[in-house]
Parts: sequence; structure tokens; C-alpha cells
Amino acid sequence: MSGIYRADLLAGKNAFLAGATSGINLAIARRFAELGAKVFIISRSQDKIDAAVAALGGDAAGQVADVRDYEAVENAVAACEAAHGPIDIVVSGAAGNFLAPAAELSSKGFRTVIDIDLVGSFNVLRAAYPHLRRPGAAALTISALQSFMPARQQVHACAAKAGIDQMMRCLALEWGPQGIRVNSIAPGPIGDTEGMARLTPTPEAQERLTATIPLRRYGESSDIADLAVYLCSEAGRNVTGALMVSDGGQTVGGSAIEMGQ
Ligand code: HXC
Ligand code: NAP
Repeated sequence: MSGIYRADLLAGKNAFLAGATSGINLAIARRFAELGAKVFIISRSQDKIDAAVAALGGDAAGQVADVRDYEAVENAVAACEAAHGPIDIVVSGAAGNFLAPAAELSSKGFRTVIDIDLVGSFNVLRAAYPHLRRPGAAALTISALQSFMPARQQVHACAAKAGIDQMMRCLALEWGPQGIRVNSIAPGPIGDTEGMARLTPTPEAQERLTATIPLRRYGESSDIADLAVYLCSEAGRNVTGALMVSDGGQTVGGSAIEMGQ
């Protein structure tokens, strides 16, 4: 536990997290649970659900649901409410990604990532909507720097994440009057995830990337978990429609004009 938040900050809160059987989203679920929340997680694999629920302990529960399958997501949010009551926090972080040059990417490959990331995030937030506590609920989508920075071999992820962020702003507009906040986090490279290991597999690739980051470090999934707590707790009560970047300054570093010797 990071210890930077009061230990009971999320006591009595009920959180539903999509794609939380590994990586960043599992770290968010873990931090929420450590701070007293009841967590309910979904992903495609029963084995991964079982392992994550066992690791989370306490009241944690979960169910298999592919975010592309609206009915399965609806069933899961209903099961979450039946188990834990009205939903205070919903996190939509399931994603699929791989490196592929646009000219070699099939239409189905492009569509697959749009379906998981963008349509999946709509499905999760839309299905959760009737179950959200109002006023007071917080919804969070997980985006990426690819949302606003073009990247080679990432046309599918860039398009999907840009869509997620604009969807997030529209939902913040429509749901704000009911006391529901909607925000997005864009992590930079997060070192302790398999996804990042796949995208920058060699020490040389990692060094090249780190050199573009002003803080000269990859992020950690716990950095994103702490930011998620801020956004989804009372601390973030006046924040909605925001895209919060946690990237060690990579985006400002990448656009800097280098002068001098
Ligand atoms: C080109 C590819 C490909 C690749 C799949 N496809 N992998 N094209 N290069 N490496 C194409 C396939 O050829 C196929 O099109 C289409 O995509 C669907 O592939 P399936 O394998 O049938 O899809 P599915 O079983 O649904 O799996 C989805 C997946 C897979 C995205 C392809 O990798 C997955 O399940 N990923 C989940 C885990 C993950 O990716 N995590 C990373 C999270 S984010 P054709 O036309 O050939 O049939 C992360 C950090 C990113 O890593 C940070 C920035 C966003
Ligand atoms: P990860 O470890 O690959 O986790 C992805 C999670 O989503 C898993 O729990 C996976 O479980 C689940 N999932 C995948 N497809 C799904 C589907 N169709 N339906 C339901 N669940 C699905 O990913 P990560 O690297 O931690 O990334 C998490 C989020 O952060 C993503 O949105 C990613 O784009 C974003 N991000 C990551 C980084 C990074 O450096 N890692 C950087 C920027 C943004 P199953 O396989 O069991 O379904």
C-alpha cells in the first residue's frame, strides 16, 4: 500500500472494474480494495478472474465478460449491484494492442482494437449507468498518450483512445447534472506491465524511450492506481471531463525544441 491516502478513504464504496485481471487495472483494483472498497472485476478468462479475486481477497468478486458483448457486461454489472449494492466507481480499462504498420493492418485487426477499447468502454459505462449511485458516482476510462500523440504502428490504438476521450467528455456533459463524474487517465509507458514489455521488448528500445521522458523513468502501475484513487474519491469531487496524463513528462519532452550544444 502506498500510504499516501487515508486507510479508509474508500470504505463502503463499491467499484466495478473492466479488464482488471492484470496490469494497470488490477493495480487499481488492488489499491481500491486496500482503501476499503468492495471490488468486482471482469475479463475474458475465468482462470485470470479466479487468480485476481484470490489475490484481491476480502469481498472481491468477479465474472467472465468480454467487453465487446453488451449483454455479458450488463449481466456482470447487475451481478455487481446484487453482490455489493449501487455502484460508486466504474473503471473501464480493457484494451487490446499490438504493433502493426497501417499498410499491413487488416480491416478486422483495426476493428478488433476499436471494438475492445472504444465500443467496449461505451458498453461498460453505458451498462453501468442504471446502477450508478447518484449523486456521487465516478466513472473512469483508461486512455493513453496515443489519444492525442500520433504513433507509428499504432493507428488502431490511436484512433480507439482518441474516441474514448471524446466519448468521456460527452458523458461528463450528459451525466454531470446527475452528480456523476466521468474522467480519463492517459498513462505513459508503465514498466511493470506485460503490454509495455511487448511494445518495447529490448533494452535498447527501452533506453531510447526513457531518454525522451523528462523524469527519465517509466511509470509504475501504482502511479496510475494512486491517480485513479484521486479521481474516483472525494478528493476529485470537482473534476469531471478531464484527461489526466501521467507520463513522467513524456509528452512535453517529446515536443521540446532542443537548442544549444
Ligand atoms: C497485425 C494483428 C495482430 C498483430 C492480431 N491481429 N494481432 N494484426 N499484427 N500483432 C489481427 C488478426 O490478424 C485478426 O485480423 C484481428 O487482429 C483479430 O485477431 P484475433 O486474434 O482474432 O483477436 P482476439 O482473439 O479478439 O484478440 C484481440 C487481440 C489480442 C487485441 C488481437 O492481442 C488480445 O486479446 N489482447 C489483449 C491483451 C492486450 O493486448 N493487452 C495490451 C493492453 S494495452 P485478420 O484480418 O487477420 O483476421 C498495452 C499498452 C499500450 O499493451 C499502450 C498504448 C495504448
Ligand atoms: P494488460 O495487462 O494486457 O491487461 C488487459 C486487461 O484487459 C486484462 O485483464 C485482460 O484480461 C482484459 N481484457 C482484454 N481484452 C478484453 C475484453 N475484450 N474484454 C474484457 N477484458 C479484456 O494491460 P495493461 O498494459 O495493464 O493496460 C491496461 C490499460 O492501460 C489499457 O487500457 C491500456 O491501453 C492502458 N495503457 C497501458 C499502458 C502500459 O504501459 N501498459 C500505457 C498506456 C495505456 P483477459 O485477457 O482475461 O480478457
